[in-house]
Amino acid sequence: MDGPRWWQEAVVYQVYPRSFCDTTGDGVGDLAGIRAHLDYLVWLGVDAIWLSPICRSPMADAGYDVSAYDEIDPVFGTLQDFDGLVADAHALGLKVLMDWVPNHTSIEHRWFLERPDFYVWVDGTPDRPPNDWLAALGGGAAWAWDTHRGQWYLHLFLTEQADLDWSNPAVVEAMHATLRFWLDRGVDGFRLDVVHCIGKGHDLPVLSPEQAAKPVEALDLAYTHTLLQGIRSVLDEYPDTTSVGEVYLLDTARVATYYGTPEAPELHLSFNFPGLWAPWDAAVWRTRIDEVEQHLAGPGRWPTWVLSNHDVPRHRTRYASEARSRAAAVLLATLRGTPFLFAGEELGLEDAVVPSQQRVDPGGRDGCRAPLPWTADEGHGWAGGDPWLPWPPDAGLRSVATQQGDEGSMLWLYQRLLAARRGSSALRHGTFAWLPSPPDVLAYERAAGPDRRVVLVNQGAISASVELAGDWEVEIASDHCSTAAELAAAVAVVLRPALGNKGGPAGV
Ligand code: GLC
Repeated sequence: MDGPRWWQEAVVYQVYPRSFCDTTGDGVGDLAGIRAHLDYLVWLGVDAIWLSPICRSPMADAGYDVSAYDEIDPVFGTLQDFDGLVADAHALGLKVLMDWVPNHTSIEHRWFLERPDFYVWVDGTPDRPPNDWLAALGGGAAWAWDTHRGQWYLHLFLTEQADLDWSNPAVVEAMHATLRFWLDRGVDGFRLDVVHCIGKGHDLPVLSPEQAAKPVEALDLAYTHTLLQGIRSVLDEYPDTTSVGEVYLLDTARVATYYGTPEAPELHLSFNFPGLWAPWDAAVWRTRIDEVEQHLAGPGRWPTWVLSNHDVPRHRTRYASEARSRAAAVLLATLRGTPFLFAGEELGLEDAVVPSQQRVDPGGRDGCRAPLPWTADEGHGWAGGDPWLPWPPDAGLRSVATQQGDEGSMLWLYQRLLAARRGSSALRHGTFAWLPSPPDVLAYERAAGPDRRVVLVNQGAISASVELAGDWEVEIASDHCSTAAELAAAVAVVLRPALGNKGGPAGV
């Protein structure tokens, strides 16, 4: 049996480049800013970084509207900066994943003019779109009328983002070339943006009215799997590379199919967003975890876990409590699967309040994208000038520098959790089993050979306790002080066998 692959044991950290650190004074983060803080990421204990889009873009959708797949947008720096970043990251043992946007390009991409056959055009009249599909990000119809061509083009997102027609072999070839361009520069893999949508081709499927209102959450087509097998073959030309798909289907059984089969593999990893949307409620979390254990347990189907990203309010904001978000961090770091952190969650950042005149994103997602405060002073370690979005609340107190100086901080909790994970094969790749517990407490055991950990997460509003067989001691407590015997509300602990505990299951 092969051992676990690096992406199964890794902790991946999503860098949102616009908001990480600005070194030029234009208020937008850049590659040099990321490079300058790689040592912080090593201290934190992550294994890989995923960079949200940095390719050339008119930024109608913050870089998810690519106008050149083989160029770095000047706001972030140059290809030379990028090569330097990858070299530095690799020297520090960090893998680098790019964001790859295969479903659509910017209408400013030269293909849109030069290769109209790359896109989904439909004849018609300007008064009636070809079907009732609606665009994501509040854009009305998923169709735009092009007066010059006298045809409609499809855009599942903004009008500025035209959908590619992957049923055209020339699109497949051109997009594979964009992967090879970055793989040749040494990247370790990609996050694949809304990749479950690419198989729609020119003959669009019929969707029910409910599905047509949100096609991005409904498209689940056989041809996408064929395309993913092709993408996987490109990645497999480069040893040890990986992929994580943004499969935005809120159904874990469906998501699982995007890993393909051992004979015809597709994604190495896939996001599975039902967990992201789970409220702070033990019954819901139990169901979400059961779904993962049921559908993402076979060979080649390794789960992922994510609490926050650049598209949704941060979990610190959603859960409306620091204690809960600390306990959630324990879940993220100890469930079976690859955890993805969104930059700033380790600081317990809340979403910024963005006044209407400062709003940037047409999809209303600015709050979670606020800049990262590095230092407590007014400039927060950025090069000066107003950042492109306002700072998050309590930016000084939440800054990296302030929290590194306080061993009881959220930041130290993340650091300890990732160190504990690194030191325990049970946490990194062990089995998962529930333990008997009161309804509001999630209690589970992870085990790999003799290495074992027990995790207790109290999602209730009152303190609770769990009876365990054998002696266990607290390795980490989300409040830095709880004991296993009594778990306060919204507290989680990681337990390790105490001296003298010679093994055997923890359940009574
Ligand atoms: C994905 C991205 C999101 C973007 C959309 C369109 O969902 O995460 O930020 O707006 O795709 O590319």
